[in-house]
Amino acid sequence: MKALITGISGQDGSYLCELLLSKGYEVYGLDRRKGIESFPRIDKKVLERLHIVEGDLLDFERLRQIVKEVMPDEIYNLAAQSHVGYSFKAPISTFEMSGKAVLFFLEIIREVNSASADVPKIKFYQASTSELFGGDPGTEPQSETTPFNPHSPYAIAKLSGFHFVKLYREAYKIFACNGILFNHESPRRGADFVTRKVTLALANIKAGRQEFLELGNMDAKRDWGFAGDYVEGMWRILQNDTPDDFVLATGETHTVREFVEEAGKLLGYDVVWEGKAEKEIGKDKKTGKIIVKINPEFYRPGEVNLLLGDPAKAKKVLGWTAKTSFKELVKMMVEADVESIK
Ligand code: NAP
Ligand code: GDD
Repeated sequence: MKALITGISGQDGSYLCELLLSKGYEVYGLDRRKGIESFPRIDKKVLERLHIVEGDLLDFERLRQIVKEVMPDEIYNLAAQSHVGYSFKAPISTFEMSGKAVLFFLEIIREVNSASADVPKIKFYQASTSELFGGDPGTEPQSETTPFNPHSPYAIAKLSGFHFVKLYREAYKIFACNGILFNHESPRRGADFVTRKVTLALANIKAGRQEFLELGNMDAKRDWGFAGDYVEGMWRILQNDTPDDFVLATGETHTVREFVEEAGKLLGYDVVWEGKAEKEIGKDKKTGKIIVKINPEFYRPGEVNLLLGDPAKAKKVLGWTAKTSFKELVKMMVEADVESIK
């Protein structure tokens, strides 16, 4: 089996390529040209087993050429501008990467699939997201049947990608699926996402290298799982007999504040909170040291307040469940960051 992964250098790309290699796949990874080979998330031995192909997600002709040369059995489209906050600053490029580029791949697959009856059909996985739901309190738990109500340029872009996948599946019988994934984290998570920002900052504060941590909305609730578990779900989605859309989630939700408390505990801090809104601070109860301050710069023009997924369909149809608990996830990330800053 041959797989093409876009976004190979990202968090999920790094876990997915390891999984597919372990299953005997020949793995091709799309990487945009940077003039320097840089894959900090991928182990050197794993990298040696990958075929890296250079190309940009927005270059239709190049993508077409790559797909025709590689002729993968499966395409996992993970590449995106994946930061929700940044999408308010760069809505147009975000929209192109998560909307237009999905259509590029579907058009290429339509062309390849219809070329000849002998050509093997390409299966397509689209990295869709729980951001589609909008997270308004009262809509939880969110499942495949929950109405969408996107609150950011990122979510609107991903929603267009979601509908293109559904349309091409229904209209052209393409084996195309949306994985509607809730937040998944790991020691390989980008440092500007809240979980990694917290674990890295607290490890630095503990080591005396940073004074305090600045955060935005502490009340947001997320259904946080471990990325390593979620790539297994992506693979299972494409092994199902029929193409379909699936929610992958843990079924548990926590506030940003709870994440800070749990991470702090592991480093010997008993974080207590004082003040409200922009005046809120988090202090270590024993020493009185201020560990967290609010910086409104990290507030977003549109917020998703409450994500809590219902993964029942994935469990029933795919036999998939998130194995790693919230506490195990936070521990894994804190321990890795204590090591990473040494
Ligand atoms: P990530 O770490 O931000 O990785 C994004 C990847 O996309 C990087 O490899 C990046 O390459 C690549 N990319 C961006 N623009 C590109 C372009 N123009 N051409 C080629 N490659 C480009 O994201 P992730 O956390 O692994 O997430 C993977 C996918 O799942 C994303 O589509 C994300 O929106 C979606 N998703 C993630 C979560 C989550 O909680 N992690 C949940 C739901 C959905 P560079 O290294 O060159 O920047
Ligand atoms: N990044 C960030 N930085 N978020 C903060 C901060 C901060 O300093 N302070 C509070 N938050 C809040 C955000 O406002 C948001 O409500 C929550 O923490 C989580 O933010 P992120 O970690 O940036 O993730 P996200 O939920 O916006 O998006 C992630 O998950 C989506 C799936 O639900 C990304 O991985 C998306 O690509 C993915 O689709």
